[in-house]
Amino acid sequence: MVRFLVLALLSLAGVTQTSASPTQASEPPNPTEEQPPLGTGSLSFPWSHLRLPGYIVPLHYHLLLHPNLTMLSYSGTVRIELQVQNNTNWVVLHSKGLRITTATMLDQNLAHLSDRVLPVLHNPTHEQTAIFSPRVLSGGQKYFLFLEFGAELGEGFYGFYRSTYRTSTGETRNLASTHFEPTSARMAFPCFDEPSFKANYSISIRRSRAHTALSNMPVEQTVVLDDGLMEDRFAVSVRMSSYLVAFIVCDFRSVSATTASGVKVSVYAAPEKWQQTHYALKAAVKLLEFYEKYFNIKYPLPKQDLVAIPDFQAGAMENWGLITFRETSLLYDPATSSASDRVWVTMVIAHELAHQWFGNLVTMEWWNDIWLNEGFARYMEYISVNATYPKLRVEDYLVDTCFAAIGRDSLNSSRPISSAAESPTQIAEMFDTVSYDKGACVLHMLRHYLTDQVFQSGIVRYLRRYSYSNAHNQDLWDSLANTCSEEEFTSGEHCYSSRQAAKNAYLYAGEHLDLTTMMNTWMLQTGVPLVTVTRQGSRLLLKQERFLRTAHPSDPAWPSLQQGFLWHIPLTYRTDTSTSIHRHLMTTLTDSVDVGEEVGWVKVNVDMAGYYLVHYDGSGWDNLIQLLKDNHTALSFMDRTHLIHNAFQLTTAGRLSLDKALDLIGYLRSESHTVPLLEGLGYLEAFYRMVERRDIPDVTQNLRTYILWYFRDVIDRQTWSDKGSVSERRLRSELLSLACHLGDLPCLKQAQRSFTHWLDSNSTLNLPADVAETVYSVGAQEDTGWASLLQTYTHSLSETHKRKILSALASSRDTNKLTRLLELGVEGEVIRTQDLDSLIVMVARNPRGHHLAWSYVQKYWSTLVDKFQLGSFSIRNIIIGTTAQFSSTEELTEVRVFFESIHEQASQLRVTEVAMDNVQKNILWLQRNLGTLRSWLDQQID
Ligand code: BES
Ligand code: ZN
Repeated sequence: MVRFLVLALLSLAGVTQTSASPTQASEPPNPTEEQPPLGTGSLSFPWSHLRLPGYIVPLHYHLLLHPNLTMLSYSGTVRIELQVQNNTNWVVLHSKGLRITTATMLDQNLAHLSDRVLPVLHNPTHEQTAIFSPRVLSGGQKYFLFLEFGAELGEGFYGFYRSTYRTSTGETRNLASTHFEPTSARMAFPCFDEPSFKANYSISIRRSRAHTALSNMPVEQTVVLDDGLMEDRFAVSVRMSSYLVAFIVCDFRSVSATTASGVKVSVYAAPEKWQQTHYALKAAVKLLEFYEKYFNIKYPLPKQDLVAIPDFQAGAMENWGLITFRETSLLYDPATSSASDRVWVTMVIAHELAHQWFGNLVTMEWWNDIWLNEGFARYMEYISVNATYPKLRVEDYLVDTCFAAIGRDSLNSSRPISSAAESPTQIAEMFDTVSYDKGACVLHMLRHYLTDQVFQSGIVRYLRRYSYSNAHNQDLWDSLANTCSEEEFTSGEHCYSSRQAAKNAYLYAGEHLDLTTMMNTWMLQTGVPLVTVTRQGSRLLLKQERFLRTAHPSDPAWPSLQQGFLWHIPLTYRTDTSTSIHRHLMTTLTDSVDVGEEVGWVKVNVDMAGYYLVHYDGSGWDNLIQLLKDNHTALSFMDRTHLIHNAFQLTTAGRLSLDKALDLIGYLRSESHTVPLLEGLGYLEAFYRMVERRDIPDVTQNLRTYILWYFRDVIDRQTWSDKGSVSERRLRSELLSLACHLGDLPCLKQAQRSFTHWLDSNSTLNLPADVAETVYSVGAQEDTGWASLLQTYTHSLSETHKRKILSALASSRDTNKLTRLLELGVEGEVIRTQDLDSLIVMVARNPRGHHLAWSYVQKYWSTLVDKFQLGSFSIRNIIIGTTAQFSSTEELTEVRVFFESIHEQASQLRVTEVAMDNVQKNILWLQRNLGTLRSWLDQQID
């Protein structure tokens, strides 16, 4: 007993240290040989860290699950083969919300270590369970931990949860599916739920005859049990992280095809949505074949399933061999899907398939580097879809990814790509635009710097070296520079020693390739640099600083905000005197390059391949404005887009006067490329939305008149059809939607006409998909139109169609109708809970719905957190989406007061800071630019 007391005291001392150490603790609690009493009363939880101890490693899970789709619960057993590294009495692993009914420990020969069931302790705050073995588990030995457990099928979107769908005959059917990433495998079965505990999984599932069971691997054997149930035994998996495990029991239909290399690809959906699976199947086969070639590594499993789950919170999830999707991310309905829908489905499939290598085969060591998964998957979307579906022209839109990243990164509340994350909330919040979009843009910059070929062979090396294990950033830089360990070097691998690698100056002749130092400036620092260029004779003077939209050099806080920031920027520029691209690696705060006396204009950051903004001092902007006016095709469309973006960003920061940016887009009437056109128009629309919401009637009216006048020709050129290239179709969608929103009479008339046809057809007519949302939005302004749309929404079998209708319903000017929608959203019947976050954001975008949405969020805050979990994408979407339109100090105070009222939750979140920064940015924008906008418009209208 005395020994136990000591143990308990030791543990207690540990418990007070609740903030977990960022490194993996590896000391086991002191072992004891004493027999414990039967109960757990005298035992206290032996582990105080958030991360599991490293002295027991899972090798192989044998998992058996038996879900009951009528009772909405399941039972299960798991036998985990463990490798014990240090002597201990305890196994500590994760479990959350599970009833663990039996625990036993077996030795390598499957003999029980004890004739009694073992004590099981829980620490719910850390989502951990500890099992006490009275016999010491010896270091160097293997054991089997056997657990019996049960739980309800979840009601949310995590763990092993229930989803439902309705057939056209009105029958409601259940299915059970999983979503684990990042920390919810522990909700489905007890496990070592951290990415570096890779193990093999042998999964078995019991089901009725009417159902199909799916898991990561194909079924190896199906056994009929005594009670008539079927037991599917799946083949043993490859070594993988727990967050990638998945299983589904459903009655879906599928289509299948086989890739050139023999992988069976299947797409599953609810039976009546089967017709919408064909596009995904073709795309998945093509993309999988592309990746096998590009990575030069075969996809290691015999099959790949893609399943559309009716209730799904994320967009999609890359479970190895069993990718799950939201229906709108996988299903393509030729009758109701628009050009953008097709691009979206293709990109999501490309993203999840890229993860089969980046993430599944090679996984980040810990969640702080989730960008190694998500940044790569996002970037590979562009590379793979560009190669397989060139007509979609997705590379044109890479800039949007970079602009999104800059939007977040130019606020003080941003974070470094690699950031500490320990708790489940912090980990969930890592799946943000910094990991995804900044990650992708920085990779894009690196690829340009190294060349496509060096980049590709570097990442292939990385994937090969770390297959079935975990990696850090450093491993990536070493692989890209082709450096290697002494062992590899001496064993004759083809690679460079680190000394040699440093001498590999690829394109930047004469400059040393110190990739690690360079990349650390992008990985470990927050923010995006602004390079200011000044012409001085034949030289171009360069100066770098951190770009912040909410701070100005005249602010007292400026020096401290800039303190210590320095990037290694792979600079590129073009001038009017040659067609070649000039390069210079800028590693100091100020620098200069020689461009030649005779040069007229200089455009820095060619095609925006670099993650930095550029400011042109002196007459720099004027020269570029003139160039665009005289001969805009002297610059690539990417460069034109980039200039527009930079100019407007600088006006937000108070660094460039708004008239200059507006003059810069004065050439847009002759712009024939969709991307720069939409970029320029996008800013005007954003200003319009801001002044409309703030109720500044003169500016609102003039801006509307100006936009409709200036863009008259291009609006009139649009047809109300689905014809043309993908770029043309995307432009049409955007333009007509804006024109009708601005109250353009010809637009409204045409939309009204189409809507009447649709009503007359008893809602059966298929409108052109690219303009359907605009037509519905106009029709939704009338009571009968709104009611018919809601009716169609309730019964439609196409989720993309429903999304368009929901957006139209939420554009109503009648606040009673908006309230009704939000109520339907909480109920979760007609409008599924999975769509509630986008519904709230849609209502918030409506000037009549904005305050309604914000009050709703405050009122239902705890319900929303229960449904979606703190830190989730949905919660962040709701917070940003309902505050992003605020632009007054009163509103900022309101937001702050609300966040203070939920302090306990808000303090765990970064997104609350981001939201307040956003409002602050809007306030500053109006202070800095409203006057200029007003007088500029007055001049134009004159
Ligand atoms: N790995 C993620 C899924 C995920 C997201 C897990 C957030 C945990 C938290 C998946 O690969 C992903 O990135 N999904 C995106 C859609 C994709 C097309 C970018 C998503 O769900 O938003
Ligand atoms: Zn992803």
